[in-house]
Amino acid sequence: MRRPMVAGNWKMHGSKATNQALLAEVERSVRPDWPIDVVVFPPYVYLADAVRELEEGRILVGAQDVCAESGGAFTGQVGAAMLKDVGCTYVIVGHSERRRWYHEDDTLVARKFAAAMAGGLKPVLCVGETLEEREAKQTESVVARQVEAVINMLGVGGFADAVLAYEPVWAIGTGRTATPEQAQAVHAFLRSRIGAHDAKIAGHLRILYGGSVKAGNAAELLAMPDVDGGLVGGASLSADEFRQICAAASAVRH
Ligand code: 13P
Repeated sequence: MRRPMVAGNWKMHGSKATNQALLAEVERSVRPDWPIDVVVFPPYVYLADAVRELEEGRILVGAQDVCAESGGAFTGQVGAAMLKDVGCTYVIVGHSERRRWYHEDDTLVARKFAAAMAGGLKPVLCVGETLEEREAKQTESVVARQVEAVINMLGVGGFADAVLAYEPVWAIGTGRTATPEQAQAVHAFLRSRIGAHDAKIAGHLRILYGGSVKAGNAAELLAMPDVDGGLVGGASLSADEFRQICAAASAVRH
């Protein structure tokens, strides 16, 4: 049995005042007895504030990116040990916005994944195809390549304490969600791909779906057997939407 996870990727949104209000509301409304892991990913500069705000520790904090280097003369970069030091538990690597706008390739993403692990963070590896790739029936080959880049560098053991997120690029921020069947098909493919290396790791691995998840579609997506949670963008900025997604995840039994 895999414990569902709901992760809120805030991207480049918020301010001290709005974050504080959002976190207070999320902490108040996510019930302590819900059998799920809840993680928020604010922008770097607000991470320490978020950790302080969430001092009960029921809701964990993660970063949206990490440097592939462990430290040194890398102006503007933030290393995994620093993120761990301020109280982060998770870090997102390979988000499609970073692949697209910051030209991060599979090798750099795998190096970031390795740096996260070395610094004591749990990576959340994002994979997903563009619309053109889906239409060209390349979905499986694209997500397989993105996952194998990490396995080639770290072995399948890299996934023993990591999280995988399937985020079809065409569904991110577009309001166009993958159908539950489309999501399930790719999640099952990813699990079997990892299972070909190690069945036990594949069985325990949480695979989140991301791409226009909201209160209105969370339950049907999360009901799919290989969908173990959600990586939520826009809807994570509304405490009420986020609470409803967490409630849907806590009701899932598979
Ligand atoms: P949206 O939920 O806004 O589509 O964003 C998804 C996402 O990119 C989460 O990482």
